[in-house]
Amino acid sequence: MLEVQGVTRMFGQKAAVDNVSFSVDRPAFIGIIGRSGAGKSTFLRLMNRLTDASRGEIRVDGHEILSLRGARARQWQSSCAMIFQQFNLVPRMDVVSNVLHGILNRRSTVQTMFNLWPRADILKALEILDRLGIAEQAPKRAEALSGGQQQRVAIARALMQDPKIILADEPIASLDPMNAQIVMDTLKRINEEDGRMVIANLHTLDTARRYCDRVIGMRDGRMVFDGTPEQLSTKVARDIYGADTSFNESATSTSIPEDTTADRAYARLMLS
Ligand SMILES: Nc1ncnc2c1ncn2[C@@H]1O[C@H](COP(=O)(O)OP(=O)(O)OP(=O)(O)O)[C@@H](O)[C@H]1O
Ligand SMILES: [Mg+2]
Repeated sequence: MLEVQGVTRMFGQKAAVDNVSFSVDRPAFIGIIGRSGAGKSTFLRLMNRLTDASRGEIRVDGHEILSLRGARARQWQSSCAMIFQQFNLVPRMDVVSNVLHGILNRRSTVQTMFNLWPRADILKALEILDRLGIAEQAPKRAEALSGGQQQRVAIARALMQDPKIILADEPIASLDPMNAQIVMDTLKRINEEDGRMVIANLHTLDTARRYCDRVIGMRDGRMVFDGTPEQLSTKVARDIYGADTSFNESATSTSIPEDTTADRAYARLMLS
């Protein structure tokens, strides 16, 4: 389904993403972990063509996407929706309109000028909001919602595009533990029920272990780990993050002393 081969992105002399290769044969839930500056965001931006690769190929269902230009590139972008740490909603606009913005590029200028949406699209937006448990928020301004609700609106906006792949760049880094769990559960549900691949950059090991089928570890642009959550041992994790660096730098201060299991670390995270 997804084949990444030798993908590299240079910024001057520095490779932000350095010869990354992996392949995925089903719509899995994939986590990308690594220290700040490891190249996680750059990789997601390469995938949805927000930035160009210097070298390499990415094939999705056999089609190479890094060489797409113009309308074809835009078509690809609409089939791989992006979710951001800061939600990127229009704060003063109501929730339904924010969700409908997921298909803005399909609308004519006249429709846009008069803020007219086809009835079927409005119903679809409401249906998605209902599915994500936030239908009653539909008429409110986005800025009136909690962070967790706003991120679910962003997920609803992504679903409006009916994407094949959802790319999430630190989707829970700005949320408290309870909302983080709701948002991750939502992404997991979409992955399992709809068969959409999710690729999420994650700040904490615990979340990667709990939700992902597959974890990719990046360090200085290179892929230094590719395996299952079970294979992501403490030793491997230390290697990904760098042996002498503290895990406490992450927003959720997940530390992994030798004798601590992932579950206990997660429990601490939830209680903190
Ligand atoms: N537009 C740019 N111009 C120059 N260098 C860049 C640019 N974007 C990213 N970089 C560099 O590429 C490297 C990877 O950055 P990237 O944002 O992908 O890391 P990240 O893993 O997402 O980090 P974080 O966890 O802090 O979000 C960093 O060294 C960064 O400084
Ligand atoms: Mg980043």
